Amino acid sequence: MHLTDDERRIQTGELGEPQRLALRVLVKLGEAYGAERLVEIRSAHLVASSYQIAGEAGIDIYTQLVEQGARVAVRTTSDPGSIDFSRWRDFKTPADYAARQLKIAELLDRMGVIPTWTCTPYTTFNVPRFGEHLGWSESSAVVFANSVIGARTNRLAAYVDLCAALVGRVPYFGLHMPERRRGEVLFELDPELSANFADHYFPGLGYLIGKLAGDRIPAILGVREASFDQLKAFGAAAAASGSVALYHMVGITPEARTLEEALGGHTPVERIPLGRQEIANVMAQMSTGQGGPVDVVGVGCPHASLDQMRRYAGLLHGKQVHPGVQLWICTNTVVEAMARTMGYVETIERAGAKLMVGTCHNDCPLGAWGFRRLVTDSGKFAYYTPTTVGTECIFASTEACIEAAITGRAERS
Ligand code: F3S
Repeated sequence: MHLTDDERRIQTGELGEPQRLALRVLVKLGEAYGAERLVEIRSAHLVASSYQIAGEAGIDIYTQLVEQGARVAVRTTSDPGSIDFSRWRDFKTPADYAARQLKIAELLDRMGVIPTWTCTPYTTFNVPRFGEHLGWSESSAVVFANSVIGARTNRLAAYVDLCAALVGRVPYFGLHMPERRRGEVLFELDPELSANFADHYFPGLGYLIGKLAGDRIPAILGVREASFDQLKAFGAAAAASGSVALYHMVGITPEARTLEEALGGHTPVERIPLGRQEIANVMAQMSTGQGGPVDVVGVGCPHASLDQMRRYAGLLHGKQVHPGVQLWICTNTVVEAMARTMGYVETIERAGAKLMVGTCHNDCPLGAWGFRRLVTDSGKFAYYTPTTVGTECIFASTEACIEAAITGRAERS
């Protein structure tokens, strides 16, 4: 692999042992994928900031790096941790577990990582621009950065993201290369579905397309309009049920102003028509349980935006969450602060719902709660929580989720 003079200085250890090791990992990764060079990145985002992911090995690695004087070389943010840093006792997190997460927070802080604790770093202090190269992990953030912003990052693994942060570079292969970003499989929505596309179809469609596309890049034709939050929900579901790290929505995302642009002038390897029946089928698959009493409701996956906080406050205004239900809204500290300023948090909390900040149902140990049935509007939660939280899952629209929290019951749609 060709290295620049600066990279050779890193390679010889002139800039320190952490950088030397990090570069070695990145070069090995690049060689495995046939990369001929590294590319400088504008930012990094770390997924092993969570104790659930990093574990004791992560604490050992971070401790050693800090002792060696490691500092990140580019703007670097942290994914959700395994605790709500100010309310972990309210969520019944064991004290020794919280202490381990707090230790990781201290070590990342000493390396210069910005403690955003969010899967939506682009709503805080890590906002990429079109065409920039990044070194990000966190599947939902990667797919958003690539697809909705048009920045360029592969889906890095835990610790490879830290290597990228330490040297400010990644190997140049995959989604960093313009010719590897074209749509490969074309999903065509039938006109009836296009004309009547409901809000909760976005995570449903993402879940379906993730399963069908696998690791191929999907192009979607027939979605007439989509909000920031709908694109966020779509991508997170596609990245969870499949390995989608980039999608093109024709007429909506920036590298798909036309169908021809989305496909890079090529013929798709497969065309898949989708209609109302396919959406109905996948919605049914996303619910693993039968209807009945509910004990936990999860919204805000990926972390809720300010618009979503306003929406939840509107739905909860003057209402009361059922005494047998925990309604937890996941978000980050930046959105929380603004939502509090705007009065949304007061409305939400007065109704008996809780904000879960800097973490989520999937990242926290929830065994002490004994939950049996979760209701969610998130395709990613629907994919993971039956395993991570061990509950049945009912997938529903945001309105139906809030209604379930109020009545204490949910039905399969
Ligand atoms: Fe974020 Fe947790 Fe969902 S990390 S994308 S809220 S599973």
